[in-house]
Amino acid sequence: MIQQPAFPVEPWAIRETELRLATLAQSESVFALANGHIGLRGNLDEGEPYGIPGTYLGGFYETRPLPYAEAGFGYPEDSQTVVNVTDGKILRLLVEDEPFDVRYGVLRSHERVLDLRAGVLRRTAEWVSPTGRQVRVSSTRLVSFRQRAVAAIEFVVEPIDGRFPVVVQSDLVANESIPDASGDPRAAAALAAPLVAEEHDCRGTRAVLVHHARGSGLRVAAAMEHLVEGPDGATTVTESFPDLGRVMVTADVAPGQSLRIVKLLGYGWSGERSGPALLDQVAAAGAGAAHTGWEGLLAEQRAYLDEFWERSDVEIEGDAELQQAVRFGLFHTLQAGARGEQRAIAAKGLTGPGYDGHAFWDTETFVLPVLTYTAPHAAADALRWRSQTLGLARERARTLGLAGAAFPWRTIAGEECSSYWPAGTAAFHINGDIADAVIRYQAAGEDPEFERTTGLPLLVETARLWRSLGHHDTSGMFRIDGVTGPDEYSAVADNNVYTNLLAQRNLLAAADAAEAHPRHAAELGVNDEEAASWRDAAAKMMIPYDSALGVHSQSESFTRHQMWDFESTDAGEYPLMLHFPYFDLYRKQVVKQADLVLALYVCGDHFTDEEKARNFEYYERLTVRDSSLSACTQAVIAAEVGHLDLAYDYFAEAALMDLDDLEHNTRDGIHIASVAGTWVAAVGGFGGMRDHGGRLSFCPRLPSALTGLKFRLLFRGRTLHVDVNHSHAGYVLLDGEPLEIEHHGQTVRVDANHTLELEIPPIKPRDPAHQPAGRAPAQRRPPR
Ligand code: BGC
Repeated sequence: MIQQPAFPVEPWAIRETELRLATLAQSESVFALANGHIGLRGNLDEGEPYGIPGTYLGGFYETRPLPYAEAGFGYPEDSQTVVNVTDGKILRLLVEDEPFDVRYGVLRSHERVLDLRAGVLRRTAEWVSPTGRQVRVSSTRLVSFRQRAVAAIEFVVEPIDGRFPVVVQSDLVANESIPDASGDPRAAAALAAPLVAEEHDCRGTRAVLVHHARGSGLRVAAAMEHLVEGPDGATTVTESFPDLGRVMVTADVAPGQSLRIVKLLGYGWSGERSGPALLDQVAAAGAGAAHTGWEGLLAEQRAYLDEFWERSDVEIEGDAELQQAVRFGLFHTLQAGARGEQRAIAAKGLTGPGYDGHAFWDTETFVLPVLTYTAPHAAADALRWRSQTLGLARERARTLGLAGAAFPWRTIAGEECSSYWPAGTAAFHINGDIADAVIRYQAAGEDPEFERTTGLPLLVETARLWRSLGHHDTSGMFRIDGVTGPDEYSAVADNNVYTNLLAQRNLLAAADAAEAHPRHAAELGVNDEEAASWRDAAAKMMIPYDSALGVHSQSESFTRHQMWDFESTDAGEYPLMLHFPYFDLYRKQVVKQADLVLALYVCGDHFTDEEKARNFEYYERLTVRDSSLSACTQAVIAAEVGHLDLAYDYFAEAALMDLDDLEHNTRDGIHIASVAGTWVAAVGGFGGMRDHGGRLSFCPRLPSALTGLKFRLLFRGRTLHVDVNHSHAGYVLLDGEPLEIEHHGQTVRVDANHTLELEIPPIKPRDPAHQPAGRAPAQRRPPR
């Protein structure tokens, strides 16, 4: 586990001042750079040692067969796995003839800094070689937000104690060996040499490699170009082989002099384009980067991030560590989607191979709510990706005997890749999650083109799915039986509240959209009768409620199940799914992650305040948080119902998930939903922001430990700035026409350049809520 002192607290950076080989893999995830298209793990420049080497391209995958001991109809036959593509990060240094390798000689100093404003990873190291030579190595790495096919590294070598020959070998390497997968189902399938060489070429200080993935046939090209500045007499040798491109720079360097190499990388991939076409594409990317130059790339990166922070920053007053973590989370959320351009946003972004690089509902439910209000173009692109896979989702629905579209539980390219159907195909709520993300994006922006071409088909086809998946029972109620909700410790249950409420919203939104766009809806075959059937189903939606307990039942009969024996469960037996059979988890009251509590947030307009409080307290006793997707939601509802200090503990847990490696698997990649959830916990929790019915409302309230919270967000082309302290909230538009919002239930108008100061009404203190034995979140303050 990464110990906190390795990352001193500072507002705009994550800094590591000591290299700990035992936690190298975790730090590679934390220091990963990505733009949604290219992802580079924070591997050391010299390639070794490494935890997990990783270079990923959004949407690039290899197929692998899914083995079944007992097959069943409709089980997917193949899965898709993210590929560690051609590695261009490597710059090996030889001092005299001794390779710079931190495992040998003496590493006198080491520092890596992820700079959240500059968008770069900087490293400096001073090393004494086994033969006693002292050298300083500095590198700065970026994955460009502006030029999406480009990454670049500046690498500088300076001798400290005398003149000596240095050699820098700058590599492009395909088919690196990667460590074997662990037995943890959340890790990735290890692929041995998945790339087949097609072409290699080199000239001057350039080299390029073209490969295709053996099973998927997808083709990838990687090119590198170098700008070298060194003492007179520096020489270069360039060579290429099927799996290796190498530019070798040799120079005699004296103290006070340096050898500086700027390495420009261009990446491209395609399922259609030929090798020569891809070669041209990456050559063009490299030429573009060379034209911009290193300083230009840095300046562009800074400008892109300046704009991002200007409209999206969240300021936490009173907890410097969480301030850092919130910005870290926003940065990684942006990195996951910024230039995804119609490819999936994976659960780990492009930071590691965890979950095989698959995208889940994490995207629509946790990441897109953040991107919708901070980088809406990225949210729209992620939804366009879903709509591009509609053909596959329709086919999947047909296989399942259903109408409309059934989107995959986990995938890279759109095909269902889940082999465990109770927590895969049965998790139909993903379709409602997608619809909900469409509804939110459309309400927050003004994008009529998107509504017609992307939103409408997604809403219509998911509504059709619900209409065929559910049925009206003899009393006329609309039931959706045999589905799995967000809580994966219950499966194949009837009438999951979260699922049914989202389905209801989805059905109504589809009917409304069809009415708003009659011509386009007719092209999709929607007629009045069909739209009316959606409205009927929505009106009669079954929402289970246990009147004896006075709470909603997560799914029908859930509240009558036997309680899990929390008292006898050891701390070491969590996560439960790694220590107990699913059959036992499924038949007892134990909740892996917020499910009914997520419904209280996402569909909060369906519940009264009293229902929210009772439901929260009931499910709080059952929720073990064996998923990183839970804490942020618990934070939001704990804050809403008045457990503000508990909310603060959950907020901290979501925020520190990866910086503190709380689930011990940050090595496999950043938990993008959790880091995005940090924004949700701050803005939705302490800002009390909701967007039900396309209207923004706020019920801000701070926990005792915070003195202030400020955030900005984009809504219908305006930037709204909210500034909260314990007694008041201030609202102001930084630009644009006046906007109506709600503050604690009161409708108000917010104008540009004039802060509207409103009082925060006091809240009734609540008795503490209780968690399962041993599962309370770590307390961030003195006992409540
Ligand atoms: C959670 C899912 C989630 C997946 C990927 C699982 O542990 O239960 O809800 O989609 O991880 O993050």
